[in-house]
Amino acid sequence: MPQPNTTAQELREELARRRTFAIISHPDAGKTTLTEKLLLYGGAIHLAGSVKARKTNRHAVSDWMEIEKQRGISVTSSAMQFHYNGYHINILDTPGHQDFSEDTYRTLVAADSAVMLIDGARGVEPQTIKLFEVCRMRGIPIFTFVNKMDRAAKNPFDLMSELEEVLGIHSCPLHWPIGVDGDFKGIYHRDTGMVEAYLPDESHGMSRANAVIAPPDDPQIRALIGGYLYDQLMEDLELLDGAGDELDIQRVRSGELTPMFFGSAMNSFGVESFLHHFLELTPPPTGRNSTAGVIAPDNPEFSAFVFKIQANMNPAHRDRLAFIRICSGKFEKGMDAFHVQGNKEVRLTQPQQFMAQDRESVDVAWPGDIIGLFDPGIYHLGDTLLTGSQHFAFEGIPVFAPEHFARVAPIDTMKRKQFNSGISQLSEEGAIQTFHRVDVSTGEQIVGVVGVLQFEVLEYRLKSEYGVDVKLERLGFRFVRWVKGGADPSGLSLTSTTRVAKDDEGRFVLLFENEWSIRWALENNSGLELADISPRSAEGETL
Ligand code: G4P
Repeated sequence: MPQPNTTAQELREELARRRTFAIISHPDAGKTTLTEKLLLYGGAIHLAGSVKARKTNRHAVSDWMEIEKQRGISVTSSAMQFHYNGYHINILDTPGHQDFSEDTYRTLVAADSAVMLIDGARGVEPQTIKLFEVCRMRGIPIFTFVNKMDRAAKNPFDLMSELEEVLGIHSCPLHWPIGVDGDFKGIYHRDTGMVEAYLPDESHGMSRANAVIAPPDDPQIRALIGGYLYDQLMEDLELLDGAGDELDIQRVRSGELTPMFFGSAMNSFGVESFLHHFLELTPPPTGRNSTAGVIAPDNPEFSAFVFKIQANMNPAHRDRLAFIRICSGKFEKGMDAFHVQGNKEVRLTQPQQFMAQDRESVDVAWPGDIIGLFDPGIYHLGDTLLTGSQHFAFEGIPVFAPEHFARVAPIDTMKRKQFNSGISQLSEEGAIQTFHRVDVSTGEQIVGVVGVLQFEVLEYRLKSEYGVDVKLERLGFRFVRWVKGGADPSGLSLTSTTRVAKDDEGRFVLLFENEWSIRWALENNSGLELADISPRSAEGETL
């Protein structure tokens, strides 16, 4: 048993070097490429292209490109870790499509900051907006990396205005690009006043970028960037110094100001310098709210919460993993912890972490780390694990209100059992919410989702993981409301399109097609109270 002081010291050191973040972006902005380069710098992979190659292969063999892509990314690399310059970094992967924004939100709950990746030519795209809003709800620091600067891009001042006008966030560029019309020559570093001018290399971005670093008026730099771009840079910098926001770490930490970087993930331009600044500015693991107040990461007792459940990650094993974010103390393989929601001690066995393609067993982990635990079906989203005599629960993870509904049934009725287990698994993962009509005797299964693409994922996963083909018939409902007090609403006066159902925990709900029907129900049934809060987010709110 280590001396308590040694552990406290060790805990402080491990905390100081941990950084845990997620990358959000519109599909195709270059998230896979950037992730790959970060892993490359960290030495987690040796040749960039391995993450990419896997993804491309998957595309090539599938008709379900969008789903495969979403699933491919989030399944194989839910959380990856690597080391760089003494830091221990955890990258959480988020799906790029807004239909999976609930999944993104859950992932962000486990992160301490987010990197928003933007395609320089496209600027802020629709899904960037949605995902950014999700980030903002979490109130975490956001760092912006403008990618694909090797191609003709938007004017960087226009991009700054776009961030402000469309997303409502001020930006503070720490990099400034040189050559944005397809003549990209490098980056000016505003903190050091140096230019990093790139030298073309033969590796096509498969390794670290080759660059010369010197002041802008150094003859070598002037020769590399040319007189026109030099003059342009001087003009831009003058404008920027007059008009831009100062770097204010407090405003960055509270999510009001985003440090902005430019580069090309594909060519490795600007990536390493981005990583360097990012690691300095982004916070180490932060405290988490619980029923006992904020749990500080340097609390010596272990605590963690489940933010993601994923079954069948490996079709050969059919296992189910519960991903936890460690919030305080030290994790050790095989340790016993108290599972608060299950109200019993559990042994934390088979912990795993993920590196590029591979899973690795974990012996020790610290606050900020993400690990996958073998889940025999006991964990639920938001569950708390802890050691020590103080029992508390971490703040619940809010559940998004479903907005799309469908009637789902197996085509082959003999497959009912597999169908049911698939539906209940997906529901426990938080991918779908299920409801049963009470006014029809068949116990009709209604599935609610936040984004319509989730229906495709449902069909696809039921088929590929449970061998069940389903009929899925979209329904006109747009809202679900829980009946407060739990009384059976069947006898109520409701519009003809409103239906009574029960959720998967047997609570009564009303399914409405429009807001007018909700108002009608409330106005015509005195005493009726409706909640738009799912019972799954007991202490949270429905978003
Ligand atoms: P995603 O995960 O955000 O969906 O994006 P991904 O990294 O897959 O990148 C999407 C496309 O953009 C890829 O091209 C990728 O090579 C390209 N890309 C990424 N970063 C840069 C960059 O800095 N500059 C340029 N010019 N392109 C970049 P693809 O044609 O879809 O795939 P591939 O054939 O290149 O593999």
